[in-house]
Amino acid sequence: MARIVGGFGISHTPSMGLEYDKGLAQGFSPRWQKWYDGTRGVKAWLERAAPDRMIIVYNDHLNHFDFSAYPTMAIGVAPEFRQADEGWGLRPFPSLVGDVDLGWHLTEKLVRGGYDLTVCQDLAVDHGIYSWLPYLMDLPWTIPVVPVAINMVRHPIPTSERLHQFGKDIRRAIDSFPGEDRIVVVGTGGMSHQISGARFGIANETLDHYFLEKLKDETEELVAIPQEELMRLGGTEAAELAIWFSMRGALSDKVKEVHRYYTFPAITGCGVVVYEEPA
Ligand SMILES: [Fe+2]
Repeated sequence: MARIVGGFGISHTPSMGLEYDKGLAQGFSPRWQKWYDGTRGVKAWLERAAPDRMIIVYNDHLNHFDFSAYPTMAIGVAPEFRQADEGWGLRPFPSLVGDVDLGWHLTEKLVRGGYDLTVCQDLAVDHGIYSWLPYLMDLPWTIPVVPVAINMVRHPIPTSERLHQFGKDIRRAIDSFPGEDRIVVVGTGGMSHQISGARFGIANETLDHYFLEKLKDETEELVAIPQEELMRLGGTEAAELAIWFSMRGALSDKVKEVHRYYTFPAITGCGVVVYEEPA
């Protein structure tokens, strides 16, 4: 049967993507060079892990969905997922290759298991995935992916407990996916930041470090923090950290932490942590 070989949690921000393009063309600024360097270990791990498929739990930022109908949880099931234009034009990257087989399998298991997923057979993907992916994968992008979009924009958003359990149920669903494929699960959400309102620009590096420290073995302690408290401490968009719980939930208690990095280039804490399952 298919097997989850590991996973990682990673920040995303629009600037992370734009700075990548700039960095390749004319060299990284010192603050983004740090993030580029800090992600080299993740890229090397991903090459070693050699997944056949990836599940990416992320969030859209009003670039595909809009407030006319905003799904709480949506799964992409299509042969490809195009890049969303976020207002500055398309970046020089192809569409993501979609994993229709795994997408339908997860849909079947998770909907029957109680998750009312919106199934998207067309889905434009924004910086939630496109900002960090180029740091970790060279072109061409050949590993098929199943994107799962979680509402982090319109409150109420799904609870941390719900998202943690969702990861555990993804793991159960993989247990019945035929074949011998190696699967990596990713959870991506911004760390502390706030991009609107009177508290624009607040962030909390202490909170980000605490989160990275506790995620592997003291997940329950983090999950128990009310999302309002995460937002009070780390800014409104720090709530996106809850998405990382789905990645953690999809992995076992036996995982080893193989890489961790954190820096604060601007506005948003940028962190990554990689867990590997025993062979
Ligand atoms: Fe985000």
